[in-house]
This record gives sequence, structure tokens and C-alpha cells, in this order.
Amino acid sequence: MRFPEDVPVLTDDVVKLRAHSSDDIEPAYEVCQDPEMQHWTTIPVPYERENAVHYLTEFVPGGWRDGSSWAWAIEYDGRYAGTIDLRPGDGGVGEVGFAVAPWARGHGVMTRALNLAVGYVFEQQGWSRVIWRAHVGNWGSRRVAWKAGFRGLVKVPDGGVARGVRKDEWIATRSREDSTEPQGNWWQVPTLEGGGLRLRALRSTDAKRIMEACNDERTQHWLVGMPSPYQLEDAEGFVDSRTELLASGEGVTWGIADLVTDELLGNVSVFDLKNRIDASSGEVGYWLHPDARGRAVMSAAVGLAAKHAFKPIDEGGLGRRRLMLFAAEGNTASAQVAVANGFTLTGTAREASPRRDGSYDNLLCFDLLATD
Ligand SMILES: CC(C)(COP(=O)(O)OP(=O)(O)OC[C@H]1O[C@@H](n2cnc3c(N)ncnc32)[C@H](O)[C@@H]1OP(=O)(O)O)[C@@H](O)C(=O)NCCC(=O)NCCS
Repeated sequence: MRFPEDVPVLTDDVVKLRAHSSDDIEPAYEVCQDPEMQHWTTIPVPYERENAVHYLTEFVPGGWRDGSSWAWAIEYDGRYAGTIDLRPGDGGVGEVGFAVAPWARGHGVMTRALNLAVGYVFEQQGWSRVIWRAHVGNWGSRRVAWKAGFRGLVKVPDGGVARGVRKDEWIATRSREDSTEPQGNWWQVPTLEGGGLRLRALRSTDAKRIMEACNDERTQHWLVGMPSPYQLEDAEGFVDSRTELLASGEGVTWGIADLVTDELLGNVSVFDLKNRIDASSGEVGYWLHPDARGRAVMSAAVGLAAKHAFKPIDEGGLGRRRLMLFAAEGNTASAQVAVANGFTLTGTAREASPRRDGSYDNLLCFDLLATD
């Protein structure tokens, strides 16, 4: 192709993809000073003005001319707002890379640009599949890919590299036949209030309280999956891993906080939301800090979480039909939380709850239907 004459202009009336020009050098240089940009992409660091000059006057035109890379300038609100590039590979499969200026983020610019560019290579260039890759933890990029219908996400340890350093990588793809609709749920953590409590997203500042709660003797006794001893880094890892739970559609975790002080009192989760046999059900799990026990905090928290779980998805809820709750026989306080919330004891699974000493407790099985 000739540059810039043959570069197709693509637009959806909000975002325009067009050939880069020398006017983009200064704003592109500025975008590359952004710490997020330097952290998540493979651009040179420090990024000098001559890097932008080389990229826009040699690399980009050269890519169009020899067909190795097609990079468009993204125009939004009448200004250069970023770059998206498609790199063709063998067999009709290529890769996409993108970045948008900090001032233009959070307005759906990248999702629109991605749909335009991918639509073009499918419809006009006969590509069959586009691959998206990002370093693990780049939630903004992952959400853009999810919104634009990329699917089949896998995590590849050390799959990526930036400036000589190996990084874990996420990979997902969209094929020509795939819809542009997001696949699966990416849950949110709404703040829920009632009964003197606030259910809210966990934060890194909750780690110390989480560590105390999870090191408690009774927590350790009934929740055998907990690391023992439970360290501060276990708590930090737990908080960090909550985003993956939401993004994968597997579950939602709330921190239970005091309505006045916002201090963390415990944790309640609704999880297993993609159960292979029944993806309309969910399981409730919880633990409480020892200093919050004995005053019906968990009964109130499970009530709030269950109400949200039964709310239809299009009203912001989890759209559950049925909730399950399991308590080891002998864990009277936990069984009481189920009973207080109207759960039905459906049976006892024999020797189904492992103990740390290698023996097993019977497991009380409760459920609650949306229609109860
Ligand atoms: C990642 C990036 C391209 C996102 O661009 P953007 O224009 O802000 O994306 P959109 O506005 O289309 O966002 C799509 C969704 O992702 C969400 N999102 C954007 N950035 C997010 C972030 N850092 N964390 C969580 N969600 C984020 C948006 O809120 C939006 O969701 P919503 O529609 O439900 O509100 C931009 O942040 C960027 O350029 N980052 C630095 C470079 C980079 O990481 N490139 C990708 C390398 S793989």
C-alpha cells in the first residue's frame, strides 16, 4: 500500500481511524511519557522525542508499505488520541496492539477503535482471527478486549516480554464468525447497606484485618483451605485475586464493614457462578473477624448478599435461581446463619468436610431458592 494515500479511514462517527501525520509526533511523544503506557507496553523507556519521530515517520509508513504492520492514528474529539496497530501473520491470523492518551481514557474510545480495526481486517482483508495479548494485571486492556468480544482467555506464564524482562501474559482472540458482544459476565461489587453494615469491595488496607480473621483459631478450624499460618501476603494476595474472580464471572466478594467506622468485620462471597451443571446457582461462603462475632453480623451480611444474588442481571444483580450454603456438622454458628436467612437444610453429606488432622466431618447442606 502507499502511505498515506491508501490508508483506509474508518469511523463510527465518534472515533476516527486515519493515517498518522507529522502533527501526531508531539501528542504521541506525550502519550508515551504516561507511566501506565511505560508500564504496560514495550515502548522504549525513557521515551525520547526521536523515538516518536522514528515511529511515526519511518516505522508506521514502512509497515503500511511492506504490509508488516498497519497502524492507525485514533482521532477522538477532533484530536489525536492514540494508536492502534494490526500485525498480519500467516494463515489469516494477526495480532492487535493499542494505546490511548490518558485524557481520552474511560470514554469507550479504545473499544470503538478496536471494533473498527478488527471489523476492517475481517471484512476487507479476509483475516480469520485476531489475537489480543496483554501483561497480566492490565485490567483496562483486558476489559477493552472483553467488551469487544474477545474470548477464550488463557494465562501464559512468562508468555510476554518487555525490555528484556519476561512477564506473565493473557491471550484472547476473536474470530471472523464471533459476535462483538462480551462473552460471559464481568461482575461488579456494588456497595450494599443494611442492618448497620456496609458490604463493599475489599481494599489493600483491609489486609491486616483479613490476616487477623484468617489466623483466628475457629476460622482455621472450620476453613481448612486457609494457609496456616495466614500471613499478611496471603491477605494481600486474597484482595488482589478478587478482580480475577469478578472478571472471569466466577464470583463476587464483599468486605463486611462497620457502617460508621468502615472497619473490616468480615467477608462474604457468592461464588461458583459458572458451575458446569447449573450456572444459575451459586454458593455462599464467609468468615468473620473474632471481634465481630456474636451479634448477628453475618446473618445480616448474608441477607444482603443473597438479595443481590437473586436480583436479575439486567437490574445489576447476579441473576441466581438457587443459592447453596455448606457448614460442617458442629459448626453451629455457621448453620445458624443459614437458618436465620431462611435456608432449608436439605441433607447431610457424610464425611464430606476435611479436617486438618486428616479426619472428616459430616457436612450440612442448605439451599435457598429465589422463589422461597
Ligand atoms: C488500556 C487502554 C487502552 C484503555 O483505553 P480506554 O479508551 O480507556 O478504554 P475504554 O474507555 O474503551 O474502556 C472499556 C472499558 O474498560 C474500562 N477500563 C478502562 N481502563 C480501565 C482500568 N485501568 N481498569 C479497569 N477498567 C478499565 C472502562 O471503564 C470501560 O468499561 P465500562 O464501559 O464498563 O465503563 C488505556 O488505558 C491505555 O492506553 N493504557 C496504556 C497502554 C496499554 O495498556 N495498552 C494496551 C497494551 S496490551
